Amino acid sequence: MDLIPAPSHVRTRADAAPFVLHAGARIAAGPGTEGVARRLRAELSAATGFDLDPAPAGQAGDLELALDGALAPEEYRLDADADAVRLTGGSAAGLSHAAQTLRQLLGPAAYRTAPLPGAGWTVPAVEIRDAPRFGWRGALLDVSRHFMPKAGVLRFLDQLAAHKLNVFHFHLTDDQGWRMEVKRYPELTRAGAWRAYSMVGYRAGGRHDDQPHGGYYTQDDLREIVAYAAARHITVLPEIDLPGHNQAAIAAYPELGNTDVVDTAALGTWTDWGVSENILNPSEATLRFYEHVLEEVLEIFPSTFVHLGGDECPKEQWKQSPAAQARIAELGLKDEFELQSHVIRHFDGWLAARGRRLIGWDEILEGGLAPGAAVSSWRGYDGGIAAAQAGHDVVMCPEQHVYLDHRQAGGEEEPVPVGWVRSLEDVYRFEPVPPQLDGDAAAHVIGTQANIWTEFMDDAREVDYKAFPRLAAFAEVAWSDLPRDPADRDWAGFEARMAGHYARLDALGVEYRHPEGPLPWQRKPGIVGRPLDGAPGPSGPHTAP
Ligand code: ACM
Repeated sequence: MDLIPAPSHVRTRADAAPFVLHAGARIAAGPGTEGVARRLRAELSAATGFDLDPAPAGQAGDLELALDGALAPEEYRLDADADAVRLTGGSAAGLSHAAQTLRQLLGPAAYRTAPLPGAGWTVPAVEIRDAPRFGWRGALLDVSRHFMPKAGVLRFLDQLAAHKLNVFHFHLTDDQGWRMEVKRYPELTRAGAWRAYSMVGYRAGGRHDDQPHGGYYTQDDLREIVAYAAARHITVLPEIDLPGHNQAAIAAYPELGNTDVVDTAALGTWTDWGVSENILNPSEATLRFYEHVLEEVLEIFPSTFVHLGGDECPKEQWKQSPAAQARIAELGLKDEFELQSHVIRHFDGWLAARGRRLIGWDEILEGGLAPGAAVSSWRGYDGGIAAAQAGHDVVMCPEQHVYLDHRQAGGEEEPVPVGWVRSLEDVYRFEPVPPQLDGDAAAHVIGTQANIWTEFMDDAREVDYKAFPRLAAFAEVAWSDLPRDPADRDWAGFEARMAGHYARLDALGVEYRHPEGPLPWQRKPGIVGRPLDGAPGPSGPHTAP
């Protein structure tokens, strides 16, 4: 059956005949299952060409959908025999996972959007009991460094749903581009959503193209993305990064920068990769500006958590700025780190007053963590360990393990090889909860995330190549109850199941990296990367020049 992620319990039934989905099959959707039924019908009708009409009221269906409050919300059961496939979820989310498992059981052609001649649709007689290990199973897509058009975002959400991932971390703003329409501040996209040209490969290569790059999502686009994700039981986590990673916003509104240190009116949206020195000034006016931006963010994104970045904020301009120094004195702060902490704390309280919660990168620990904040631990496990031990919620996404921009193999032919070699097997052996954490502290690790930074991925094809197949291994780490000791994981078993899973990815049209390596057109000869050798260090900025 080659199910990925592996379910908790599977019993194949020798005593029963398989189920065959046929042209006259009907769907019986119990109370509360209508949304999942609609999507299952849409996906399977497209693939099979069958109508899959609703069963008449009170009559059994060939596909039976029900909720059972005795199950945990994301838990599900799937029971198939010759009579029917019965899908039961603890909530619509659990039922949606059952529907994805059914799609896997039907075979790779179930991932196509039109029927192939002669396709057959057999589901083995089976009992499946399944529930996720983590409630937060995320993937970050950076749409700032390279814009992903809306259709590509919707396609990415389909890929996440197929792997039972349920958080889409949408990295909407950065030095190189601001991607969200903000009605009150139209310059953010008019000036900030594009750059004149881009660096090609690593800084050391000294190469730029001469092609403007840009794009942004209108608020209606974002509402559509949020609703499309919600129909797949995926939460969209918006990220508005501050106070660093803001050159695009400062280029649009120069008064946001440290105007007593640099001529911010002369800045454009950044055309280099790396970490820009141009950070926000810490004035009250800037706080108000971002409150206004966040008011629009909250209107569009219903997610409880809002990500406010906080990473890689160079303090040089604040050190030189008389205004920033006066602010430090006025607030009675010790240094620039406490000033950053002041900014984050301000928004922690601001979000809490609106019933939301702040999450930020682990740098928000520096200068003191805001009371309600949760932490995305990216520079390794250490930040996450400290935060969890202090009673904060943590999402583990250490760059040493689950930064999918890092190269997948050591060969010269990997496109723009950066970072450490992180193979499919390495990702399969990633453990989100380090052994230092146990009991309550371990329970504060609410989930895990793989992050896709796109400096060296120009479009969806290149994102496919870096994300897959590793995101499939990551999905199993996040969902399945794997041995906690990475050495005990059944890599050979996973690799064998991947043979079946590649066929699904092919049907979905995902241009993954083949186990043999990049195809000729997936290489980028001559574009300089920055491979790191040896064992991954404890931390280090992945895009530093
Ligand atoms: C990050 O990679 N700067 C969060």
